[in-house]
Amino acid sequence: MHQVISNLKAQGKRIGFVPTMGALHEGHESLVIKAKSENDVVVCSIFVNPTQFNDPKDLEKYPRMPEKDVKRLEEVGCDIAFIPGVSDIYPHGNKMLDIHFGKMEETMEGAFRPGHFAGVATVVDRLFNIVQPTSAYFGEKDFQQLAIIRRMTQMMGHTINIVGCPTLREDDGLAMSSRNLLLTDEQRKAAPLIYKALKQAEAFIPHHTPEAVIELVKRYVEQSMFLRVQYFQLVDPETLEDITSWEGKKTVQGCIAVLTEGPRLIDNVAYTL
Ligand code: PAJ
Repeated sequence: MHQVISNLKAQGKRIGFVPTMGALHEGHESLVIKAKSENDVVVCSIFVNPTQFNDPKDLEKYPRMPEKDVKRLEEVGCDIAFIPGVSDIYPHGNKMLDIHFGKMEETMEGAFRPGHFAGVATVVDRLFNIVQPTSAYFGEKDFQQLAIIRRMTQMMGHTINIVGCPTLREDDGLAMSSRNLLLTDEQRKAAPLIYKALKQAEAFIPHHTPEAVIELVKRYVEQSMFLRVQYFQLVDPETLEDITSWEGKKTVQGCIAVLTEGPRLIDNVAYTL
């Protein structure tokens, strides 16, 4: 990779980078297509990063299908698939990046997945150093991750343009995710309620208080016996701090995590006031 990247850099090529953990779907593909439209060369990495999994069972069960992934990447015009091994990325064991994000990494996903964002920031920093992209592409599906990667990029002094891309959904509204493959038929049938609830809330903002909207969304999702809301938070899209009133806000992000007996699902939407 170092050699390939040095050659591309010497030729002044713009490198677009899409980091993933594989089990690719159209959401990932949309990032590759966007990267392709803005760069000369597109690199996509596939690496199931052990340091961002707080639950060893989740790491073990994470779907892996590299051959199929590489085919999909070829079809959407990706130039380089980078599929490192754990010892390539962590040659000295799981040594973590020593930076902290304060409240930003303690709220929402951070509260329920201790150490998750330290793992994400560490691997993305390593991948940035290897790939040295002009621009890197991330989905808004993982809204908190995108905010933390923006912050990490600034803090580490990477001169990389971070591009946020919209969430791709199935026809019934369920946000595409590699973990959807792990849903049972019953869970899959129930899962579209998550996005429906997020959209339903739109009609209640700003006529109801944030607390009332939070209650409403929870109740709506939990109509299904297969879904339990772990959190639903209304936050400032930049600081990720919980909002307590609608006053002075232009947009508020509604972020949700839902437990099934199988995979845990996350989603979010922007509410414009
Ligand atoms: P992964 O879950 O494979 O996602 C890779 C990228 O695809 C992320 O930027 C994610 O936000 C984006 N993505 C996932 N589902 C999407 C959808 N439905 N629509 C649009 N984009 C979507 O996120 C990770 O991997 C890892 O944490 C990673 C950043 C690679 C670090 O290990």
